[in-house]
Amino acid sequence: MKKIYYINIFFLIINIAAASGSDDIFTSGKLSVPPLIGKSELYLAMQKGTLSLSAGNSRTMGFNGNYLGPTIQVSKGDYVKFNIENKLGEESTVHWHGLHVPAEFDGGPHQVIRPGEIWKPEFVINQNAATLWYHPHLMGKTAEHVYKGLAGMFIIEDDYSKSLKIPQRYGINDFPVILQDRRLDRNGAFEYLPRMPDIMHGYTGNIMLANGAYKSSLELGRGTYRFRLLNGSNSSLFRISFSDSRMFTVIASDGGFLPESVKTDSLVMSPGERYEILIDFMEKEEISLVTEIAGGDIHEAVKIKINGTENEYFTHPETFKYQPVVPDSGQVRRTFRMENRGMGNFMINGKKMSLKRIDFSLKKNSSEIWTIENAGMGMMMNIPHSFHVHDVQFSVISINGRKPGPLYSGPKDTVLVMPGDRVEIALKFQDYTGIYMYHCHFLEHEDEGMMGQFEVLER
Ligand code: C2O
Ligand code: CU
Ligand code: CU
Repeated sequence: MKKIYYINIFFLIINIAAASGSDDIFTSGKLSVPPLIGKSELYLAMQKGTLSLSAGNSRTMGFNGNYLGPTIQVSKGDYVKFNIENKLGEESTVHWHGLHVPAEFDGGPHQVIRPGEIWKPEFVINQNAATLWYHPHLMGKTAEHVYKGLAGMFIIEDDYSKSLKIPQRYGINDFPVILQDRRLDRNGAFEYLPRMPDIMHGYTGNIMLANGAYKSSLELGRGTYRFRLLNGSNSSLFRISFSDSRMFTVIASDGGFLPESVKTDSLVMSPGERYEILIDFMEKEEISLVTEIAGGDIHEAVKIKINGTENEYFTHPETFKYQPVVPDSGQVRRTFRMENRGMGNFMINGKKMSLKRIDFSLKKNSSEIWTIENAGMGMMMNIPHSFHVHDVQFSVISINGRKPGPLYSGPKDTVLVMPGDRVEIALKFQDYTGIYMYHCHFLEHEDEGMMGQFEVLER
């Protein structure tokens, strides 16, 4: 709990210098729920589009549409085959964030899809139920492509998740909620034109989109609902809560169910992180899902109106089946020092990302303990970072020498590392070999070099 308190102080301090609110010239729309695509029809077209936010039209990019993409829903054990067509007129990639997958299909900076090309990754879904996501990962272009709208949810179910008595009717009582701040200009449109302060402190927006819509509303009957939250922003730290500060139950983190569910009234989420929550609506009322940007504004991301009808109620499970990553004895230890040396010099262990350099290699089936340090840089440059590792779900074993809070006790692939912090994680590399990435998921930092690559070797 100490940790959460500390992060809240961070919100408070930077809010003193916060910018003023956004204006109210827009009309509200219904929360759009991305269509589902499953095992048999996995076609994604990366294309250009426009997003109209009432006052202005933004030039965007989307999968199979103008902005964002369909939700992919598959089950553990499925063999999936994708056809991903690049109609952008420029290079890109599609990475499966959080997916345990052979390196050649990971969709990182090595798997470039040229304009007009169709990429055909295929693999077996080889991990437990989780809410993952997908987005481009081209060297130096990730931030721009994600900002323009290339992102979608990737939901995995398994026999265990299907057997649970929790909401699981997509778009009825189980909703994906992709939260993204965007910076509207005077014309009411957004573009991606970062300047040095944006690279340092994040390309923070003045409006909040939920599933690509501004001021979305959702009308529901009374009952229990499941929201799959994703901080899909480029570089904003969010604090999520409800307008009446009601308690909700967190049941899953990045890579799946928590060993024990957590009751809370707010969640801090760094870019790329996911949480699944359960919430009860007992009476006719209006309430909103509130997203506060660290250093920015407080937004009503989704207005929820509870009408007189009744949907289903569920008791919130207290525990879930979960096997944490336990490092074996004699495991290798590594340290990753995340450092911002100013003027866009974002480094890990003194180096900027190079596709020509493999930073280290390790053997398949080994488990390791990594220590991530946010070096900070004096008072002016204390900016948060996060650490994301491809291919694995890891366990957070300590933060500044202490056991982390219960929200960090489940499977994770991305972890927030506040200025001056040291975070220890345990990882196990199994099944696949090849080159994978690790990086800061503040996308401006990633694109400026805060990334590295490791190779998993057969032996
Ligand atoms: Cu979500 Cu390497 O990325
Ligand atoms: Cu990833
Ligand atoms: Cu960073």
